[in-house]
This record gives sequence, structure tokens and C-alpha cells, in this order.
Amino acid sequence: MLHKSLKELPKDFLWGASTSAYQVEGASLEDGKGPSCQDVKEVPEGTSDLKVCADEYHHYKEDIALFAEMGLKTYRFSISWSRILPEGTGAVNPQGIAYYNHLIDECVKYHIEPLVTMFHFDMPAALDQRGSWSNPESVEWFLNFAKVMFANFGDRVKYWLTINEQNMLTLVGPVIGTLMIPAGTKNVLKETYQQNHHMLVAQAKAMVLCHQMLPQAKIGPAPNISLVYPASCRPEDILASQNFNAIRNWLYLDMAVYGRYNNLVWAYLEEHDAAPDFAPGDAEALASAHPDFLGCNYYSTATVGAWKEEADQGKADQAVLPGAEGLFASVKNPYLPRTEFDWEIDPVGFRNTMREIYSRYHLPIIITENGLGAYDTLGEDGRIHDQYRINYLRQHIEQLRLAVSDGVEMMGYCPWSAIDLISTHEGMKKRYGFVYVDRDEFDLGTMKRYRKDSFYWYKQVIASNGDDLDDLK
Ligand code: BG6
Repeated sequence: MLHKSLKELPKDFLWGASTSAYQVEGASLEDGKGPSCQDVKEVPEGTSDLKVCADEYHHYKEDIALFAEMGLKTYRFSISWSRILPEGTGAVNPQGIAYYNHLIDECVKYHIEPLVTMFHFDMPAALDQRGSWSNPESVEWFLNFAKVMFANFGDRVKYWLTINEQNMLTLVGPVIGTLMIPAGTKNVLKETYQQNHHMLVAQAKAMVLCHQMLPQAKIGPAPNISLVYPASCRPEDILASQNFNAIRNWLYLDMAVYGRYNNLVWAYLEEHDAAPDFAPGDAEALASAHPDFLGCNYYSTATVGAWKEEADQGKADQAVLPGAEGLFASVKNPYLPRTEFDWEIDPVGFRNTMREIYSRYHLPIIITENGLGAYDTLGEDGRIHDQYRINYLRQHIEQLRLAVSDGVEMMGYCPWSAIDLISTHEGMKKRYGFVYVDRDEFDLGTMKRYRKDSFYWYKQVIASNGDDLDDLK
């Protein structure tokens, strides 16, 4: 669709940036924090552990001041479950509450709206030992954690996100270090989708609780949504793309919005004796929850063709998922360039994805992640010339403006990441931030913060409410 002129973004558009607790905070066992699954996992060879990260725990004042200087209207961060409840349930850690109170107060001081993710890949290790999300009690564990957060921070936090990328937890949990399947499990697919079911019920109950405890607040899910393209117009390839769209995307949004399982996914699970068991009341709980908006992480699209035995099973992560027997085979999209870390770059796919989401669900969308992981270097001039990141973000914001002109209701855009942090499985060297942190993979350096070129550019974008996307003068 061609537009003669572009629609303006709303005046209260939430320009922001994102991080997550376990990737940015550090202080992994400090001030009463219990270990999470991320603190006890074996990190991939050649990558940093998650003990110090960007040390935001000790630098939050400086960091929030930088975010304010950039003009952020919102800061998306997550709350570490085991910093608040070291054992996952039971005693609350007052120092954990104090830390997030300080962080939120600092945001409020600069008129930055806190956008809080309740769970971002960091199950308390103590709960993993009790069966993690396989344990039906996990629904109540999460609800209790939600209640503590709403009670302590709900007076200042208006926007909440439930579970970050539940679809990636389910599809590639082991890569991220999260999926804990009890030893001896026979039907791993069933166990995985039983965990997924518990998360879906936990999310639904948390949304209802949020609306009860905080009537002014707004809450939504935060899956990673990538439209899945068919490799060709061959009808079998179309079926394959429908299969993967259902498993990767619509399962999560259909459930969050309509409170029911996607029919293709359900048929697939039944076929493999993997349909999750419902506890009494689950169906009602799922149907009773209504998100106020949809948070979506977007990095790229995916492309699939009909399943074939010799399909490339290659490496898997959030952007590159292997095929699934009988359903689809992943293929490389020959039209798309790739990042230094081999993720496809598809700005037009960003518009495609937003259009599709909005036409299916008709809820406002906030992009909770989008960004470019790259090997940034601190130059001798003390600057980081990340023009490649500016180019990437510009192309995506252009498409966001086009999507808005297509009639998609967008409420905000939060690139990943506000500041450099540790990647899920590719270490510190894969940087995403607007702010450079002076540390390497293993050498903790000075931890000094540097504004990258993208920092100044994004500041200009925000100041013009998305009109001025030109290079820096
Ligand atoms: C998303 C996650 O999958 O992508 C983030 O929500 C993650 O936690 C981001 O860091 C980028 O992925 P990666 O693997 O490059 O860190």
C-alpha cells in the first residue's frame, strides 16, 4: 500500500529502550539475592558468566540519567524474581524491594515511564529444584510473585509485561538456559507444552490480578513475533508457513487475547500425545484474562518450506529455529541481508508482522525489543561509530511509520538494548546498546559508560517524535 503522506505518531508515543535483569544488573548474589537458573547454568564456551554484566545494580543512577538525556519516555526493565523472593516463594528480600524502589523512583524523577517485565528468562534456582514450570504449583508461585510486585511497585508502575518471549522459552529454552525438563521424562514434547500451559495459566491469572489490584494499570504479554513466510507459492509451502506461524506466533497471542488454544497447535500436540492436561479451573482462567495491549519483540521474519527429511537442522536460537518433523523445514531467505551474528535483517517484514498482528487482535502494540547485535569498538577518539545500528534502526522506524499509516495502532517502540549487556548465549561481544560499557568478555574493564553515535541519533529521533531519521549532522 502506497501512502501519499505518512500519519503522525501519537504525541504520547512511548519511545523507549529495553534491558532485562539477569543480562544487565550483575550483583548476581548480592544483598540477599538468591540464584536464578541463569546463575547456575553452564555458560557457552568463550562467553562471560552473568555475575557482573553491565553492573547496573551499582550504576543505575548514572544509567537512568543517560537514558533521560537520550529523551526516553519509557524504560523497559525486568524484575528479578530471586532478588525479590530468594527462594522463589516465602520470605521477601527487603533489599531487593529497595533496589527496585530506587530504580523506579529514579525513572519517575526524570518522567520516564517504567515498563516492567515480570519474568525474563530467570527462574529462581530454588524453584527449578522443585520442578520449575512442570510443577502445577508454579502457577501459584508466579501469582504470589506478581502480588508482591503489584503491592510494592504498583503505585508508580502503570505498564506491565507478563512473560518475556514465552514462545522462545518453549521452542529454544535450552539455548537460553531456561527449559528445565525433569530427569527421566519420556515424552519431552508433552512436558514442554505442559510447562507452556502452566505459564499461560499463570499469565492469565496475573493479568486478572493486575486489573483487580491496580485498576489504572495496563498489562500485556511480550512474545517474540516474526511473521513466517512460505519459501514459495507452492501450496505445500503455504501449509508449512501456516504450521510454523501457529506454533511460533499465534499460539501465544490467540491464548493471551482470546483465551483458547490455536487449533493447528492443538491438533499437532494431540497427534504427538503431547496435549497439555488442564487442571480444574484452567479453561475459565484462560478465558477470563484480557490484555490491554500487546508487547512484541521483533528481530526478523522466518521462512519455511514443506518438511523434508534432509532439511537443515543447523544451529538454533531465537532467530534461527530448526524445522519440525512433518510440519515445516526452515530455509534461508535469499532476499535478506544478515547481521554479523547471522540473523536475517528484514525491516519490511517488521511492517508485515505488525499489520498481521493488528488485523488478528486489534489491540495497541508496543515493540518491546528490536535491535542489532554487533561487534562495537571504542575508537581512539573515545567514540563508538555504530552507523550500522543507526541504519538498522532507521529502516525499522520507517516501516513502523508506514505500519501506522496502514492503520496499525502503535503505542511505543523500545529497541534492545538501552545499554550494552550480556547476550543470551553469545556473550558480551554481541553488543546492542545505545550506551557502550567498557568491559570485555572476561576483563571487567572500567565499566565506564560511553554514548555511542546511535545514542545521539536516537535522541534526535525521539525529539522529533520519529520525523527526523536523518544521519547526524
Ligand atoms: C530476545 C531476548 O530474544 O533477544 C533478549 O528477549 C535477548 O533477552 C535478545 O538478549 C537478543 O538476543 P541475543 O541472543 O542476541 O542476546
